[in-house]
Amino acid sequence: MELIIEKNYAYMSRKAAKIIAGEVKRNPGCVLGLATGSTPLGTYRQLIKEYEKGMLDFSQVQTFNLDEYCGIAMDLSKPYQQDQTYARFMHEELFKHINLAPEHIHIPRGLAEDAEQHSIGYEQAIKDAGGIDLQLLGLGGNGHLAFNEPGSSLASRTRRISLAQKTIDDNYEKFYKNAGIGKEHMPQSAITMGIGTILETQKALMLVSGKSKAAIVKEAVEGCITARVPASALQLHPGRVTVILDQEAASQLTWSLDLAKQSN
Ligand code: GLP
Repeated sequence: MELIIEKNYAYMSRKAAKIIAGEVKRNPGCVLGLATGSTPLGTYRQLIKEYEKGMLDFSQVQTFNLDEYCGIAMDLSKPYQQDQTYARFMHEELFKHINLAPEHIHIPRGLAEDAEQHSIGYEQAIKDAGGIDLQLLGLGGNGHLAFNEPGSSLASRTRRISLAQKTIDDNYEKFYKNAGIGKEHMPQSAITMGIGTILETQKALMLVSGKSKAAIVKEAVEGCITARVPASALQLHPGRVTVILDQEAASQLTWSLDLAKQSN
């Protein structure tokens, strides 16, 4: 696991965008795994800037998103704030700004009637694309990876999962509250790639920012590998794992600081 500590969120985002852009330039037909949440927003903005400057071409790139809420479907006739699907998030924050082919975009379908069959099909689509070359990841406040909540098997595959109360509360505060949506309308479950699925990606890039994540970062990076902290499974990833932290998120690390690259 390569640990990079950046001064702040802006530097972290720039570094992450540079890694993703490098992948796309090296391999224009690469398969990217994408994440939602507030953390990757700065990275997506950087990638959009690069694209607008003519430095990046996404026309051959394929994407697979980590997860999607169950029970809701993207509705472009609604204002963005009222549409809480991850499909809409990706559309607004990245896809509509770049030249990804719509048929190259994959996101689990939250309204799938048979979530199990849909999940099997999602795994197959990843295989058919040749596997994920680079998977972008965030870290949940309770250590979740994608929507693999604490207790998820480290070998889990894409499936439907019930969301932990902390996840519902965190995501309500960040995304729903401002939209004036009542807490009772929060999705309670999601379809998520499994930890086993994530461990099969060629490379993983996890971004974490802010003091509120410092304790869980320490557990994920320096702690035991345990289903209680799903992100700790990245320690088992057989490929290249890069974790980029800002100084606040890194503030509780102890022994691994010796190994970390301090970029600035
Ligand atoms: C969400 C997503 C995760 C994401 C995490 C962190 O629930 N399912 O993939 O990494 O929460 O979100 P944030 O970046 O907003 O802290």
